[in-house]
Amino acid sequence: MLRRSTGLALLLVAAFGAASCGRKESGKKVIGFSQANLGEPWRVAMNAQVAARAADYPDLEFVYADAQQDNAKQVADVENFLRQKIDLLIISPNEAKPLTPVVKRAFDAGVPVIVLDREIEGDTYTTFIGANNREIGFAAGEYAATLLKGKGNVVEIKGLPGSTPARDRSDGFREAIAKYPDIHIVHDPVANWLREEAMTQMESALAANAHIDLVYAHNDPMAVGAYLAAKAKGRDKEMVFIGIDGLPGIDGGMQAVADGKLAATFVYPTGGKEAVEIAAKILKKEPVPHRITLATERITPKMK
Ligand code: FRU
Repeated sequence: MLRRSTGLALLLVAAFGAASCGRKESGKKVIGFSQANLGEPWRVAMNAQVAARAADYPDLEFVYADAQQDNAKQVADVENFLRQKIDLLIISPNEAKPLTPVVKRAFDAGVPVIVLDREIEGDTYTTFIGANNREIGFAAGEYAATLLKGKGNVVEIKGLPGSTPARDRSDGFREAIAKYPDIHIVHDPVANWLREEAMTQMESALAANAHIDLVYAHNDPMAVGAYLAAKAKGRDKEMVFIGIDGLPGIDGGMQAVADGKLAATFVYPTGGKEAVEIAAKILKKEPVPHRITLATERITPKMK
């Protein structure tokens, strides 16, 4: 289940109200930031990065919306921003296909658009900012093959199917392990990026497979969920776990690696800081790239 941060939501509503009233007097440029959800720690980190960098730009006013993992709500959030006559839209879309038309509508109406982390279909936006998920998946596959010494049973736990990182992280991983005929994906459930769903899916994987060597989950919360399910059955030592995100902090993937729960994670930068910087440039009519690819890094206990 997605956690709701009611306090934060209320704060955001208050901030939105204040922003739209104060704007006319202040002459500030207003940026609407449409977030796919705020139930996942990685997205909370993205919003925090946006807010921190935004503090350096007193001429910009940020208004926030949380789509709560609901495509229809995210479409409505963007429509609402457009009615408020925002000067620029930043969107991290929940799923590609359902969000493409509203992003196109904004862009075609002359509102500059920055798409963050998850892609839409086509390229009706000003700038896309994000890491290369296919490359991250490929690197995870190569590292999995190294850990497995070219042989073993793998469970792949997938993110939300309509979100592009889930597709790309799967494709890249499968391309990398295709060179190893003795590595088999024995189970590949969807857990929609969520830890609790991954726990449930991993219980089924454990019941169906007498031996599992490695779990590759498309993000760290799902990798940790799988680890917890295996541990509950006394089978955590039988296999290793790989995730993606590498958030710092006590509940983040870096700590999960340090604690020995995950064998590796790959840093997936949120792009929040870059989005603010690019937004400022666009609003000053400075040239910006159409795509900005953020770097990743593999995190292992020994940092080899
Ligand atoms: C958060 C998240 C991250 C993941 C990203 C992919 O919603 O699931 O954990 O890396 O989205 O878009």
